[in-house]
Parts: sequence; C-alpha cells; structure tokens
Amino acid sequence: MAPDETSRPRTASNVAEYFGRLAGTYGDGAYYGNRRKAVIEAIAPEIADAREMLDVGCGNGAYLTKFVEAAGIRTVTGVDLTFEMLISARGRAGAKCRLIRADVARLPFKDAAFDFVFASHVLQFVADVERVVAEFVRCLRAGGVLIATGQRDDSVRQMLSVIAGPERWREYREVIFRRAARREADARPKDRYQQAFAKAGLRVEERAAPFTVTWADIDEWIRIRWMPLVPADERERAESMIGELAKMGVAQVLTQHEPLIIGRRAG
Ligand SMILES: C[S@@+](CC[C@H](N)C(=O)[O-])C[C@H]1O[C@@H](n2cnc3c(N)ncnc32)[C@H](O)[C@@H]1O
Repeated sequence: MAPDETSRPRTASNVAEYFGRLAGTYGDGAYYGNRRKAVIEAIAPEIADAREMLDVGCGNGAYLTKFVEAAGIRTVTGVDLTFEMLISARGRAGAKCRLIRADVARLPFKDAAFDFVFASHVLQFVADVERVVAEFVRCLRAGGVLIATGQRDDSVRQMLSVIAGPERWREYREVIFRRAARREADARPKDRYQQAFAKAGLRVEERAAPFTVTWADIDEWIRIRWMPLVPADERERAESMIGELAKMGVAQVLTQHEPLIIGRRAG
C-alpha cells in the first residue's frame, strides 16, 4: 500500500503520536494566520450569539485564544486527544478556558451543555464522521450551532501538483507530504460532512472563508506543517525540493477558500 494511504492517523491511538510532533508550531505562520482570520470573520455572527463554546480537536489553542476574547462568550472549553497540544493550548489561551483530554467520539459532557460547537480540521482524522457529528449534536442545545471546517484542506497541495507536473509531484509527495491523506484514495463521498450533519438532524448551510497567500506563506506552511513529519534522513532532500518548487513560478498571490459547514439545531 502507498505510504499516503496508511500513515495519516485515522484511529485515536496514533493521533497523539502524529500531532505530538506538531504541538509547538501547528497553526503558526501567515498561511494559517490568514486562514484563521478569514474563518473568524466569516463566523462572526455565530460567535456574537455564542455563550457556552466548545472547541473540539482544539489543538494548541489557536482558535481558543480568539474565543476567550469574544465579548458574549461566558465559557470556553477545548477538547483534544493529544496531551502536548493541550499543554501548548494552556500556554496560549491561559487560564480563561477549560481544557480536557478526550476523544471527540466520546465527549465527557452532559447533553445540551453548549450552544456553539466548533470543529476545525478534526473531522478528517476521525474514522466514523457520522458517529462523531452525532456526539457533537448531543452536546448542543436547542437553537445551537455546529461549525466544521476542513473538508478540502489539500487545495495548496493540488495547486503545487499542477505546477510541478505528475512526475515531480510523485517525488515531492513521497518525501514532503508522505503523511498527508491521498484524496484519490479517499472513497468517502465529497459531501460526507454535510450528510452527517443532516443525518444528525441539523439544518445545513455552507459558507466560504476567502483568504490570500503568497509563495513565502506556502513555503513557511510546508516548514511548519510538513517538515516536522519528514524523517531526519530525508530532510536535506525535502529542502532541495522546496527550493525547486520555489523556482517553478509560484510567485503570484493565490486566493484560497476555507469551506465552512454550518449546522443549526432546531430551537
Ligand atoms: C489539524 S489539528 C487542528 C487543530 C485546531 N482545531 C486548529 O484548527 O488549529 C487536529 C487536532 O485534532 C485532534 N484530534 C484528532 N482526532 C481527535 C480525536 N479523535 N479526539 C480528539 N482530538 C482529536 C488532534 O490531536 C489535533 O490537535
């Protein structure tokens, strides 16, 4: 089996090992910063209405730092499986939020405990999306909202594959992006999140959060997101590949769209 098909964590047991290495830096840099800013702007109305906020798969707290600052929010809770991520989140978000180590498939909360559940780039790592979405909805009170991102996080890689051409791209993928999901190998339906939201009884809406990136931002993103996962003996090769990519004319400013899926529970 190709490494891409096996190496991305889809089970809870290897999530911590995978994300533990990214805990200090995940979400840093202009690419993530611009994306996050766009998402926060796009969901500003829902943030303004939120009182009890739950961030599932909160990672190292990049969004938590924004939620604790929001005027109307009374409590902010972050859940993650990776201990190192939670340590880092504590450092970033401070004492203003509650942080809990748990699997998003089994949340340690009473029914209807929150009015806003936020899931940024976590559903792509769970084995059973329908079950996890149902668990989010269990924690959501009537009139509450669930917002998920992350359905198409490979847009930059797709763009790089076009620029590099199939042959070079195979090599880049093997060395730099070997632990990324392979879209072609993903047999699950494209709109699987929407389907899971609808099945859980939510009224579903889609929204896009547009943001721009430059090659410098993408270069930085590769170093932050992918280099820590490249084995030490492959780093030199990866560096020279990043150098090659830079020469291939990724000079323009690119507009990306972070897709948001918004589900409302009947009030
Ligand atoms: C790609 S990161 C996103 C972090 C954060 N939501 C953000 O957007 O900055 C995914 C996070 O989900 C967490 N995660 C993945 N599967 C999980 C699970 N089953 N239960 C809890 N957390 C999980 C990982 O530990 C990681 O911190």
